[in-house]
Amino acid sequence: MIKLIILLGLAAMALATTDSYGNHGRVIANTTMQLLREAYNLGEDKNVVASPLSFMILLALFNSGAHQNEITRFLGGPHFESLYKNLSLTLSKQDAETLTVANKVYVASKYNLKESFTSAVQSFSCSEVDKLDFGNADAAAATINQWINEKTRGLIKNSIKSDTLSADILTALFNVIYVKGHWEKPFHPEFTRNKDFHISKDQVVQKPTMYKQEYLSYRESPELGARLLGLRYKETSLEMVIVLPNEIDGLPSVLEKAAEKGIIDGALEKLNEFKSHVIVELPKFEVRSSLDLNKIAPKLGLPNLFREPASGLVEGGSVILSKVFQDAFIKVDEKGTTAAAATAGQAGGISLLIVTYQDFKVDHPFLYIIKFEDKILFAGTYVH
Ligand SMILES: *[C@@H]1O[C@H](CO)[C@@H](O)[C@H](O)[C@H]1NC(C)=O
Ligand SMILES: *[C@@H]1O[C@H](CO)[C@@H](O)[C@H](O)[C@H]1NC(C)=O
Repeated sequence: MIKLIILLGLAAMALATTDSYGNHGRVIANTTMQLLREAYNLGEDKNVVASPLSFMILLALFNSGAHQNEITRFLGGPHFESLYKNLSLTLSKQDAETLTVANKVYVASKYNLKESFTSAVQSFSCSEVDKLDFGNADAAAATINQWINEKTRGLIKNSIKSDTLSADILTALFNVIYVKGHWEKPFHPEFTRNKDFHISKDQVVQKPTMYKQEYLSYRESPELGARLLGLRYKETSLEMVIVLPNEIDGLPSVLEKAAEKGIIDGALEKLNEFKSHVIVELPKFEVRSSLDLNKIAPKLGLPNLFREPASGLVEGGSVILSKVFQDAFIKVDEKGTTAAAATAGQAGGISLLIVTYQDFKVDHPFLYIIKFEDKILFAGTYVH
């Protein structure tokens, strides 16, 4: 049996729409919340950022050769499987400075991919196949890291350690998602101050916290026990949603409900139809996660992912998937970037009106997502 390794590296930078969720958006949202819950529960560090979609795109790519029912079910069923290719194409048409999706298949130099699999890979946009000598682990790791480094614009370096590679690896699959959004209305750095952040009911730390007042998408979700705030990026279609538990220590329960009942109905759905004047206080943050999907996948209805031989990929044998992991990074700050100052004072007339402001003070552990239209690209938790 030949071993196959899937590696997955990705990065989201920054902070950065539609509101009606199609069935594919719902499949992705369900899996996203389930994966986030597992990553949160398994992780020693409760600050987590993940791109479940990136993992799903990678599995769709793999399954175009492997044809495993378990994966098909995980991806939402036969009808949905082809949509990941379509989504990959849609995302690849965005401005690469803002959003990059890239897939890569490396094959051990001594083997050949089946032609049917090669053409399946090529039909996924932004997907390439290259030969690599995994026996020379240092050089192989350097080659892969260089590709990841390039695709993530230097945000993820040395993701792959040479001791995770060996001569018995046949193929490595990679997927990278990179997002860099710029707030539609940036935060002013001069309003950023150290403020209390309640890690738990009896533990408080100081965090540099951004501040702004704006007319924003805002709603309460009794279903989740949380309030939601939508922060749009200048790049249309991209939006960050902060899900702030009502209780200081409410995050585990909100995450559990989101994973069990979904996060769309009664929460994300129609968020943009609920508008309020909001005073936002949001900590700046930066999170890096390395997820071991070998541990997480079995909990997501993929118990055989690393056991079932796949014969449709290479000439003259079957392969077993040996590893999938994901590196992700997110940085949230005042900007986005350059155009910051320009939009600042735009709320002109509002001060003349008598307006009731919602206070949205993000001063305890919360959940966030970044979505592209109705597809969740990233989700994470911020705890400390
Ligand atoms: C593929 O994506 C495009 C653009 O998002 C969309 O218009 C089209 O309907 C999609 N095709 C399928 C089969 O879903
Ligand atoms: C998402 O999860 C919810 C809650 O488990 C379920 O009712 C719904 O059918 C799921 N949607 C899809 C498209 O899988």
